[in-house]
Amino acid sequence: MRFVDLIEKKADGKALTKEEIQEMITAYVNGDIPDYQMSSMCMAILQRGMTPEETADLTLAMMHSGDVVDLSDLPGVKLDKHSTGGVGDTTTLVVAPLVAACGGTVAKMSGRGLGHTGGTLDKLESIPGCSVEQSMESFKKIVRENGVAVIGQTGNLVPADKKLYALRDVTATVRSIPLIASSIMSKKLASGADAIVLDVKTGSGAFMRTKEEAFELARLMVRIGTLVGRKVRALVTDMNQPLGNAVGNALEVQEAVELLSGEIPSTDPLYQVCMLLGENLLMSAGLVKDEAEGRAKLEEAIHNGSGLKKLQRMIELQGGDPSYLTTDGMKKLVEVKRHVYVTADKDGFVNHMNAEGIGTAVQMLGAGRAKKDDVIDMAVGLVMKVRCGAEVRKGDVLCDLYVNDEKYLDDAVALLKNSIVIEDEKGEVLPMVYGVVTEKDV
Ligand code: URA
Ligand code: CA
Repeated sequence: MRFVDLIEKKADGKALTKEEIQEMITAYVNGDIPDYQMSSMCMAILQRGMTPEETADLTLAMMHSGDVVDLSDLPGVKLDKHSTGGVGDTTTLVVAPLVAACGGTVAKMSGRGLGHTGGTLDKLESIPGCSVEQSMESFKKIVRENGVAVIGQTGNLVPADKKLYALRDVTATVRSIPLIASSIMSKKLASGADAIVLDVKTGSGAFMRTKEEAFELARLMVRIGTLVGRKVRALVTDMNQPLGNAVGNALEVQEAVELLSGEIPSTDPLYQVCMLLGENLLMSAGLVKDEAEGRAKLEEAIHNGSGLKKLQRMIELQGGDPSYLTTDGMKKLVEVKRHVYVTADKDGFVNHMNAEGIGTAVQMLGAGRAKKDDVIDMAVGLVMKVRCGAEVRKGDVLCDLYVNDEKYLDDAVALLKNSIVIEDEKGEVLPMVYGVVTEKDV
């Protein structure tokens, strides 16, 4: 079939066959389908949707467009987690070492910051010497010794997604749920884990603005993973405010170290989401029988310090200086020229936040890249002093900014004032966790 006819078929709302999808991905990666035709196809998919079977076929075709990592020579159930992107989401740096301390095998490939969201690789690079670029051999060696490693992608993983994502980004087709599901799952499946726990974010700082869309994406991804024999679970969690209090690279590592040192209360949203991710990972690996047993093991690994030790050893094995990874050591990595405090303009209640605005303000301080090769200032960012639902008085500190370069400071402060909404009457406070989707639900 000519590709133009295939576009027409999708534009008419018909389902594409497995062979058609396979051929399309191969031809696109080889350069035999031009971007203008592929962007038209993406728009047809955005408008007409795809069935779960089509989405699974697309995922597999994308997954096999490049290298597929084989972790089968590592012991145990290989675990991975993935968050669809958020602000102040430091969960990997907490959960990966904690789960390893509980006997799990965590072989994780992470990403860089994208748009207003931070990336685990950038955070890890805030620790002097730590390298996220490891060969496959060295990656496996670290996992074998320590139970956990977090690195950047090695090899040529899912070239179809690199090309498609760049195209979607400039053709207003990022937000198609089947295209997001296949993009995320092709990369997760190609990374070789047996069991994957996804954290689908919803709210003002997330791709999925509504809860309904987030559950649709969560169910679809669990279904795709299950179809290809992997264990997949998905949490749907709130991203209407930063998850942790810290937003910035070293600042987020500092918060992770504090949590692993037992210095963050168990009522904290970051703590709660970390526990939920950890419990689900341990259950997927068959290491615990239920949530309660998982929670108890994870908390023990906080209290006896074994989780923090795993993180310190991981950093050391990846070339970094582990002496920074204590609550005192981290203070050296967040030293800045100046602190600036954003304060409340009036008395009232913090009813809403725009998490995207908060993420963008932190980027303006230099914590992210505006251009591909920009150098990140690892120390800058902010620490939130309030959460949604807080009652404040005029002049109270809303957030503490860690500032070096002041070029966009005024813009960042203005954006933060707009992003933290204070109203006279107390509003509804949204839950942190909306639900968990497992194989049984799909
Ligand atoms: N993250 C991805 O990796 N792909 C998408 O399409 C959206 C978010
Ligand atoms: Ca992330």
